[in-house]
Amino acid sequence: MGHLAVKSVTKMYGNPASDNTVVALQDVTLEIEHNSFCAILGHSGCGKTTLLNMAAGFEQPTSGQITIDGRAITKPGWQNTIIFQEYALFPWLTVAQNIGFGLEMKSLPSHKRAEAIRLHVDLVGLQGFEGRFPHQLSGGMRQRVAIARALAVRPEVLLMDEPFAALDAQNRSAMQDELVRIWQREPKTVMLVTHSIDEAIKLADQVIVMTRRPGRVKAIIDISLPRPRDEDDARYLSLKKQLRGLVHDEF
Ligand SMILES: Nc1ncnc2c1ncn2[C@@H]1O[C@H](COP(=O)(O)OP(=O)(O)O)[C@@H](O)[C@H]1O
Ligand SMILES: [Mg+2]
Repeated sequence: MGHLAVKSVTKMYGNPASDNTVVALQDVTLEIEHNSFCAILGHSGCGKTTLLNMAAGFEQPTSGQITIDGRAITKPGWQNTIIFQEYALFPWLTVAQNIGFGLEMKSLPSHKRAEAIRLHVDLVGLQGFEGRFPHQLSGGMRQRVAIARALAVRPEVLLMDEPFAALDAQNRSAMQDELVRIWQREPKTVMLVTHSIDEAIKLADQVIVMTRRPGRVKAIIDISLPRPRDEDDARYLSLKKQLRGLVHDEF
C-alpha cells in the first residue's frame, strides 16, 4: 500500500528561544491516495524540500505528523525513497550497480537482484547502458538511473524533489513524458515538488498549491485529464490559467 497523510504539520528551523527561527511550513494538511500522483507547486523557499525531507524521514515535524498507511515516518527507509534534483548517483558504480544498490539493503539473493536490475533497466529504457558509469551518460539518462534505482526497491511512496530542474527545456519535457509512461506501467504513490505549473499539470492527479513562506496549503486542484496530456487542449489551458492565477497571486 502507500497512502501518505500529512496532518497539521508545522516545521520551524532554529532555536525557538531565539529570534532567528524560520517557520518553513505552517499547519499543512494533505492526503495522497494509494498509487495517486500528487504535485506540490510553489515558489522557491515555500518549504517544498522541507516537506519532502520530512516525508523521507530525514527531518521531523515540529508539530503534526506524516504517516504512510497510518504509520508515522520516524526514519529514512526503502518504503519512502527520494529522488533529488541533482542526480545523486554513485559515480564509481555502473548503471546496473547504482540500480542494484538499494537492493543490497533489502538483502535480496543475487539472482533476484539481477532480475530486478534487468526489469528496471528495461522500465526506464536503458538497455545497453548497464555497464556505463554516470559521467558517460547525459543528464536525462542519469535521471532515468535515479528513477530506476528508487523504484527497484519497490517503495510504497516515491518522493521527487524538482527532479528535472537541472535539465534543459527539451530534455525536461521528454523526461516528464517518460515519467508518465513509467508511472502508468508501474503505478506508485508519488509526491513530486516543482515550481513549474506545466510540470504539475502534465504529471499529477492532484496539485497542491502552496503559499509563500511560511508554506501553507493555498488550494488543492484535482486533474482528471487523460494521459498523456495535450498542452494545447482547452481544458489543459484553462487549468494552466487557474493555477497561474493562484501562484502569481502570491506577492
Ligand atoms: N536546515 C535548515 N535550517 C534553517 N533554515 C532552513 C533549513 N532548511 C530550509 N530552511 C529554510 O526554510 C525555508 C524553506 O526552505 P525549502 O524547504 O528549501 O524551500 P523550497 O524547497 O520550497 O525552495 C527557507 O526559508 C529556507 O531558508
Ligand atoms: Mg527545494
